Amino acid sequence: MDLGIAGKWALVCGASKGLGYGCASALAQEGVNLVINARNPEALQAAAQRLQSLAPQVKVLAVAADITTGQGRDAVLSAPGGPGVDFDILVTNAGGPPPGDFRDWDRDAWIKAVDANMLTPIELIKATVDGMAARGFGRIVNITSSAVKAPIDILGLSNGARSGLTGFVAGLARSGIAARGVTVNNLLPGKFDTDRLRTTFTAAAGKTGKSVDDVRGAQQALVPARRFGTPEEFGAICAFLCSVHAGYMTGQNILPDGGLYAGTF
Ligand SMILES: NC(=O)c1ccc[n+]([C@@H]2O[C@H](COP(=O)([O-])OP(=O)(O)OC[C@H]3O[C@@H](n4cnc5c(N)ncnc54)[C@H](OP(=O)(O)O)[C@@H]3O)[C@@H](O)[C@H]2O)c1
Repeated sequence: MDLGIAGKWALVCGASKGLGYGCASALAQEGVNLVINARNPEALQAAAQRLQSLAPQVKVLAVAADITTGQGRDAVLSAPGGPGVDFDILVTNAGGPPPGDFRDWDRDAWIKAVDANMLTPIELIKATVDGMAARGFGRIVNITSSAVKAPIDILGLSNGARSGLTGFVAGLARSGIAARGVTVNNLLPGKFDTDRLRTTFTAAAGKTGKSVDDVRGAQQALVPARRFGTPEEFGAICAFLCSVHAGYMTGQNILPDGGLYAGTF
């Protein structure tokens, strides 16, 4: 299927590895020009080179910056050679907040989580959405978490901050932009095989005295698909949401999780 988005410009945040890279890679293979972002410049540059060799016909610009800061957002939105704020596609993403007990979190911990996982996507949307609407085409995909639908107790910072974003998006998606060709959807990853997931296994192994392989096996056994998802699978869903074919789908929370969420809806 031709997704119909070749030649468009996408900003993909948190894209040097993991789910963000999966999205960038799927979009590049559809002929989409990219501005990719992450903090570590070497890892980001290496990712840009991989993307460029996957899709030599597209432009790939790498902007190393912390997307949760105003300065970082300004840098990606004014990347030399990029489209400025005139992106056709926006994929918001940043690291998730740390796990813990809410009794230990002070105001600063909450502000940091809300900044990274709620206000940063909203700021990026604010900078780009009206241009999309004026041009009659826009696709916004926020990478959130299955924890929005099925909260995980130790991830209270994530449950809270991402639910705030989800509520905001539900309203925005159904506002005037819907009639002007702009969709806004959230992708809620279940368990995907990325560095972040592997780090949580190592931490759990350290706490319980089990081996990392045992922790991994036990987690995998909980998933009806009996495996974790891959960044490529995640990227393919993201690219479809960004396609011309997904124009009638907005304000949705899509949960790729191998069947882990046990509800009918
Ligand atoms: N993997 C899963 O199973 C899973 C499940 C539920 C939710 N999620 C959520 O999905 C998101 C992506 O997860 P992932 O598994 O792909 O993580 P990952 O493999 O650790 O990759 C995270 C990416 O984001 C970048 N990043 C992190 N903080 C950033 C910042 N402040 N500014 C710019 N770039 C930043 C990282 O590069 P730098 O470190 O160099 O900046 C990296 O490129 C996270 O929010 C995570 O909580 C993941």
